[in-house]
Amino acid sequence: MAFAKISQVAYYVPSQVVTNDDLSKMMDTSDEWIVSRTGIKARHISQSEDTSDLASQVAVKLLEKAQLDPLDIDFIIVATITPDSMMPSTAARVQAFIKAENAFSFDLTAACSGFVFALSTAEKLIASGRYQKGLVIGAEVLSKTIDWSDRSTAVLFGDGAGGVLLEKSSSEYFMAESLHSDGSRGESLTSGKHAISSPFSDGKNRDNYFLEMDGRTIFDFAIRDVSQSISKLIEDSHVAIDSIDYYLLHQANIRILDKIAKKIGADREKFLANMMQYGNTSAASIPILLAEYVEKGILKLNGGQTILMTGFGGGLTWGSLIVKI
Ligand code: ACO
Repeated sequence: MAFAKISQVAYYVPSQVVTNDDLSKMMDTSDEWIVSRTGIKARHISQSEDTSDLASQVAVKLLEKAQLDPLDIDFIIVATITPDSMMPSTAARVQAFIKAENAFSFDLTAACSGFVFALSTAEKLIASGRYQKGLVIGAEVLSKTIDWSDRSTAVLFGDGAGGVLLEKSSSEYFMAESLHSDGSRGESLTSGKHAISSPFSDGKNRDNYFLEMDGRTIFDFAIRDVSQSISKLIEDSHVAIDSIDYYLLHQANIRILDKIAKKIGADREKFLANMMQYGNTSAASIPILLAEYVEKGILKLNGGQTILMTGFGGGLTWGSLIVKI
């Protein structure tokens, strides 16, 4: 029987920091509105690095930390809704950059649940017994899909990347999971639609490239559906709620963390947060949080802690993993 283990973590963000005050000089908003509604104070915004550049920096750090030869990597999965291009995939670009010549690579698209879905997929690849080592990276340059004249979305998002090295292990670290989608509610959060505009099209199919969100609907979805699914997962898996050391939820809004903690009856102190510095980085938010808190020494790899990771967002998609680190 093969099991998978998170053996290294890393993150990388573009150096340029854009504060709420910077944004309030460009649009009709204020630090007070943004902080009180979301908790966000600043975000990192790329000047020219694309998604694969951020993801490649994470891959390089993971290899350095693990002192691994890139030829030992079996697969690379990049979760993203902002790939450099549809083809080649962002993961293929990372593979080329780090010269992981033995790895297969692909992108996975599940918006803000992307990292959780990718980690679950990677765990199954390793549990199959066929593969030993994989890189699982969440990476986004959301700033290229933002309509910077729309204050209702422009203040929320940031760019960044984070990831893990997943390795084969002899004992079990992935304790439980639940993954969900509801495509019937997909229109409440959209981006990246290109029109069918061939010489043969009837012209009815239109572009909808920029990120658009019905914030209130997504907020309510996060509080209701996501809370319910976390509670059910904890109940079904028979993991005692007190044995969960930390909750790493998608970093969209500090009020969502407050409300979910209350709904599921968990200690709010256990909910880690960093959206204050990074904003919502979609598929990158959970691995950045994980890597940053390992760097701070609060999360300890090989420390026997149990964490619950939850992503939620476009699709709609949502899902959680309970993992020992
Ligand atoms: N600055 C100042 N005022 C603003 C801004 C802004 N940046 N944006 C909106 N407003 C105004 C609105 O125009 C509105 O004004 P009005 O009452 O005169 O019409 C007022 O503020 C209230 O707007 P709401 O949208 O009702 O504000 P709300 O309290 O719902 O907060 C927010 C909005 C922060 C977006 C919230 O709904 C939210 O966090 N939603 C969830 C987002 C989320 O979780 N996304 C996760 C998935 S993301 C992904 O998958 C890519």
